[in-house]
Amino acid sequence: MKSFFITTPIYYVNAKPHLGHAYSTIVTDVMVRFHKMLGEDTLFLTGTDEHGDKIVQAAEKQGQTPKEFADAVSARFQALWPVLGVANDRFVRTTDEAHKRVVQAFLQKVYDAGDIYFGEFGGHYCYGCERFYTDKELKNGLCPQHRSKPEFISEKNYFFRMSKYLPWLREYITQHPDLIRPQRYRAEVLSMLESDVLEDLCISRPKTRLTWGIDLPFDHNYVCYVWFDALINYVSAIGWPAGADFDRYWPGEHLVAKDILKPHAVFWPTMLRAAGLPVYGRLNVHGYWLARDAKMSKSLGNAVDPVEMSQRFGPDAFRYFLLREMHFGSDASFSEEALTGRFNADLANDLGNLFSRVLSMAAKYFGSRTPQRGRLSADDEAVVEHCLHSLQNFIQLFGNVQFAHALESLWETVRALNKYVDSQAPWALYKHGNTERLAAVMYVLLAAMRKTALFLWPIMPAASRRMLEQLGCPVEKNAPPVVSLKEEATSFDGLASGTALAAASNLFPRVEKM
Ligand code: ME8
Ligand code: MG
Repeated sequence: MKSFFITTPIYYVNAKPHLGHAYSTIVTDVMVRFHKMLGEDTLFLTGTDEHGDKIVQAAEKQGQTPKEFADAVSARFQALWPVLGVANDRFVRTTDEAHKRVVQAFLQKVYDAGDIYFGEFGGHYCYGCERFYTDKELKNGLCPQHRSKPEFISEKNYFFRMSKYLPWLREYITQHPDLIRPQRYRAEVLSMLESDVLEDLCISRPKTRLTWGIDLPFDHNYVCYVWFDALINYVSAIGWPAGADFDRYWPGEHLVAKDILKPHAVFWPTMLRAAGLPVYGRLNVHGYWLARDAKMSKSLGNAVDPVEMSQRFGPDAFRYFLLREMHFGSDASFSEEALTGRFNADLANDLGNLFSRVLSMAAKYFGSRTPQRGRLSADDEAVVEHCLHSLQNFIQLFGNVQFAHALESLWETVRALNKYVDSQAPWALYKHGNTERLAAVMYVLLAAMRKTALFLWPIMPAASRRMLEQLGCPVEKNAPPVVSLKEEATSFDGLASGTALAAASNLFPRVEKM
């Protein structure tokens, strides 16, 4: 069985989760569900990143120890995922003992291989990014991401010989055109590698300055740099070096936003190489959610609360909006007006109306039983073709992380089905006693609605289940409704005749503009 292991970033616990974290985790959940429906053996990892200066500073503000503070915020992240319909298999914390042991084993391995050395270093340190900046990288003396003044720090530290692996990395990325997607981020990484600005990586912090971290196994006066610690979560959580899950799932895929492209595209593959592990299979990179044209972030204080949004609109509609509105890779703006607009147009009108019209007609004309399929007319065949074609497109686009286009393609079918209702006018067929045509039209509609519901499962798991129930095709909670999406997209079979349908449907009641 093919395996599909995918991870989100592990989020800093310096503040509560916002829309950006919700988006990455929801997209990952959507991808996992899609791969489940392709019949694959999936593993979904997320977690929290708990070491480093900025956690210490945030804890101090609350009058708590770093561990107390991290426990509380990590718990908020863990509690959020089920609320958003996210079903992660594992949750890793960098303060887990098992993770710490793996980080030390990893460090020791790289140290023994001669790729860690001791040296003097000075630079501008941004606590928000937890990294040093060179003079050139600063914008008017400020961190380009956080727009705050970094601190100049000079000290003796341990360094990872990253520069030694950069020519190899450049070659590797050139040889693996699909390693980083969308392509613009691959190009960005290649130009970073070609510009020669990259140097060795400082991987320690002296305990005189920071104790909240993992001890270097070869020098207990130092703790490990938070990024070196954090990236290793991706293999510590699957039991490297000795676990069966490592053999079963590695190499996996990562999903991140562009803010952390460099650590994932440069630090991590060179770290893996130095420790003798295979490089990950893929890095999926998305853009930013913006609020009034600025990146939404904890530090800028313009964050949208995902809990509030999913309470107001329902988690399924919220997920649909995020996937439909952002073209994966590009930035997108969040606004409640846009969310309300899509809710009413796509969900209440197009999809919700289709279900409500067809099910109430099926109640009236067939006593809420799926009719026999019968002979299809040229009009029926055309709609069936349209539907299957859009499902095949959906699979292809989805596999390509083009979620917005995939949904657009599916919605073309939903809209075509609504038009088909209008053009075939089942009420007229009923009035004229044309039962055979009526049965064929209603069957086509119900079968196409079943397909739509199935394909929406990754994005809207609860609504998909409700739709399938209404169509007399109940599915187990948490289980994918099918395990061969490809077959579903090539044949129109799958809906049995004579099964009981819901008499009415009101999936997405319109929401009023605020
Ligand atoms: O960087 N739009 O954690 P973090 C879209 N701990 N996504 C956003 C976003 C926005 N406006 N804001 C945040 C860290 N994100 C490290 C990661 S991984 C080994 C260590 C999402 O809490 C997006 O996934 O700052 C981004 O990459 C991540 O949150 C950064 O989370
Ligand atoms: Mg951040």
